[in-house]
Amino acid sequence: SLPCDVYAAAGTPCVAAHSMVRALYSSYSGSLYQVQRASDGVTANIGLLATGGYANAAAQNSFCAGTTCIVTRIYDQSSKHNDLTVEGAGGAGAADVGAPADALPVTVGGHQVYGLEISAGMGYRDNSTSGVATNGAAEGMYMVTSGTHVNGSCCFDYGNAETNNKDTGNGHMDAINFGTECWFSPCYGSGPWVQADLENGLFESNLGYSTNSSSTGTGAIPFVTALLKNNGQDHFALKWGNAQSGGLTTTYSGGEPSTSSGYSPMHQEGAIVLGTGGDNSNGSIGSFFEGVMTSGIPTDAADDAVQSNIVSVGYGGATGSTGSLDSASEISLKATTSCCTTDYVRHQNNAGVLSAITSSSSALDKNDATWIVRPGLASSSCVSFESRNYPGDYLRHYNYKIYRQPMDGTTTYRQDATFCPTAGKSGTGTSFASYNYPTKYLRHYNYNLYIASDGGSNAWDSATSWTDDVSWAVSSPWAP
Ligand code: AHR
Ligand code: AHR
Repeated sequence: SLPCDVYAAAGTPCVAAHSMVRALYSSYSGSLYQVQRASDGVTANIGLLATGGYANAAAQNSFCAGTTCIVTRIYDQSSKHNDLTVEGAGGAGAADVGAPADALPVTVGGHQVYGLEISAGMGYRDNSTSGVATNGAAEGMYMVTSGTHVNGSCCFDYGNAETNNKDTGNGHMDAINFGTECWFSPCYGSGPWVQADLENGLFESNLGYSTNSSSTGTGAIPFVTALLKNNGQDHFALKWGNAQSGGLTTTYSGGEPSTSSGYSPMHQEGAIVLGTGGDNSNGSIGSFFEGVMTSGIPTDAADDAVQSNIVSVGYGGATGSTGSLDSASEISLKATTSCCTTDYVRHQNNAGVLSAITSSSSALDKNDATWIVRPGLASSSCVSFESRNYPGDYLRHYNYKIYRQPMDGTTTYRQDATFCPTAGKSGTGTSFASYNYPTKYLRHYNYNLYIASDGGSNAWDSATSWTDDVSWAVSSPWAP
């Protein structure tokens, strides 16, 4: 059973069911989301390949070919029609913009689909809902998000919020928050944490701060199930799990916040927010794949069944194609200079570097050295390299140095992350010209990575061994 089938059978039906990637009811056959293209402003609905199935991303690819698209609406699959649209101005943030539709390609259920990649200034909302909890009613909610695309700014939320985009006081929100913002000290570990945004605070317990020293966060895992339930009166609970394997862990289950008034009972207003705080505080970043809200508190057994279904779907599975520059092929890029023929392009501490990888390297090192070839973000006749273990992050240059960073939808980012393959300058392998600096090529120099010209003012433009340093062997991926 799919998540909303599970919750319906448990007597706590979905009153909102949003997904970029798949149906959340086995009977759902409608649209998942709407995109709008930049070239002519026309919109198109993106639906499913089959009833109860996966997103028809090919329809998006053909509609958006030769231009760019943003996501303008996320349909509610429940009968309540609580669709999310781009959020307007609020008490703490100017009107948001739509997320780029092609930023977060992932494999789900063996299909190439797109998640939603939220950068600062992006968010979605529905201020006029039906069926969503208000004024102390009970509700549950979960989302599938990512532990690799987070920050410490307010507030990457999914759930219940104010109907006027303003902070109207304690208890007027009941939303999952996910990120590294520690509102009430202490928080244990370095996060990111699943917290409850109940307004005027991100809560890990009735005392605000974490009372659970084993709740150190999810770490940088690419797919996370984040869950909150709240009876609206005197109890809330937080859980999380790895969306690729295993079950859910409860990090808190207990009373409503007691350190200031307004949370017991709750005063939810019933709007739905995605990607910002209740007052449209929108400095946060995050990823969203699917999420639901229920009427009533789901049983733990229902939550477990939903997590099993999420795991069974296979978020982030292999694309099934390797070793070439074709779209969706998984590769590693090996240096060809004589110094370095067992060295590969990998990311480390957010930078692109060259390092030795062998069959006995750790899984982390192998994942860091694996890239998924995507159509060039600035031009589909070139390529971009999406990180295998940081979905929606790509290799890009900045001040001519290479980094792994999240795709933010800007024209500069698109260009900086686009490389045009050509025959290897040394006569072997492949060289990659920068799209926006076409005389500069992807190069290793002192084990760092740059875009470099053959002679020039920067140290990394050195003509010595330039042709070898810019010639790469497109190889089988290190990651399984
Ligand atoms: O509760 C945390 C944040 O505080 C809310 O999301 C926002 O409305 C307020 O700024
Ligand atoms: O890397 C060169 C330029 O540096 C990039 O185009 C831009 O992002 C930054 O200013």
